[in-house]
Amino acid sequence: MRISVLTERAEGELRVALVPENVVKLVKAGATVVIQKGAGERAFHSDAAYAAAGATLADTPADAVAGADVIAKVQRPLADEMALLSPGVALICLLQAQSAGDLIQQLATQKVSTLALERVPRITRAQSMDVLSSQATVAGYKAVLMGAAALPRLLPMMTTAAGSLTPGKAFVIGAGVAGLQAIATARRLGAVVSAFDVRPAAAEQVQSLGATFVKSDVVTAAAEDKGGYAKAQSQDEAARTLETIGNHIVSQDLVITTAAIPGRAAPKLITADMVHKMKPGSVIIDLAAETGGNCELTVFGETIVVGGVTIVGPRNLPATQPLHASQMFGRNVFTLLQHLTSKEGNTLVVDPADEITGAMLVTHDGQIRLS
Ligand code: NAI
Repeated sequence: MRISVLTERAEGELRVALVPENVVKLVKAGATVVIQKGAGERAFHSDAAYAAAGATLADTPADAVAGADVIAKVQRPLADEMALLSPGVALICLLQAQSAGDLIQQLATQKVSTLALERVPRITRAQSMDVLSSQATVAGYKAVLMGAAALPRLLPMMTTAAGSLTPGKAFVIGAGVAGLQAIATARRLGAVVSAFDVRPAAAEQVQSLGATFVKSDVVTAAAEDKGGYAKAQSQDEAARTLETIGNHIVSQDLVITTAAIPGRAAPKLITADMVHKMKPGSVIIDLAAETGGNCELTVFGETIVVGGVTIVGPRNLPATQPLHASQMFGRNVFTLLQHLTSKEGNTLVVDPADEITGAMLVTHDGQIRLS
């Protein structure tokens, strides 16, 4: 099996799909791994490290993908990269199908088998392939660091010769993977942390990290679907959620929002009115910015200041910590590649009937498989 890795060229994308540690294992298992020269450089993995791991280095994207069975990427292919994809090749990447436009039809027409990493099913067996979780961990961590850097105050309590400082208050909205990591990071920095989520299961997880769970009568078992995700709220539930958040947010210094409903725009949980009532100098880091933002005022990719409150709508936070983000991404892709390898020999098996492969497969055999 021949596996190719291309250099990411999307703006701000510093990650790489496989790191040398993965290459060692793939080569040992009998695969040929071809890395485009420079692919890992911005994630601090040199060409020499890939070569030492057993990879073949290729000068150009065309050389890298020639004869490939699988192409592994972080972001979906750019227009000129599409021209390199041969019929039958398997493409593994973050496809983000909802914003991919004509690309999906083109992938089907070119008979590419496209496995979208964001569609890994949330089942225990697939946990080690789950790029959304691994990258959300990085985003949750980084969001707190960005917030701490933007605050005019320190987060920990301090007793010094120059007087005592009270601890900062951090509030995390949405206690999924990113939110729980944000809670842990804010606690490590010494903040007094509280969190809110509509799923009752989140309360215990929040408390186990030493944070307070903000109570509301909208937190009931009915808020969660069978897959463990939050459901969209009714108008009445949404109004009661806003009331809970509105009462709590006024006393907070740092607010990290991560609330998401799969396949939908982010729920609006911080209104303009709430922002106006917050303390000047406080900071909101809106991790849901890409899907519309949890705060009404968030601008994706920008930092704005409204009434002294800084609101950050970050773009692709995991890419800002490319070393560890790539290490985790690479492990996820490596585990997926193992799953796609036949037991008998070193060949690629893309089986639409398989629970994991089938869920991820967006185009196959010339067909689009999105429902
Ligand atoms: P997500 O990214 O879809 O959403 C983030 C959080 O926002 C969730 O905790 C959700 O409940 C919350 N949320 C949604 N609407 C809200 C609202 N109106 N107000 C406040 N909070 C709101 O979630 P993520 O991080 O993907 O996790 C969702 C669930 O999936 C969790 O139960 C998690 O443990 C589970 N999971 C399971 C995995 C597996 O078994 N392989 C892997 C990753 C997550």
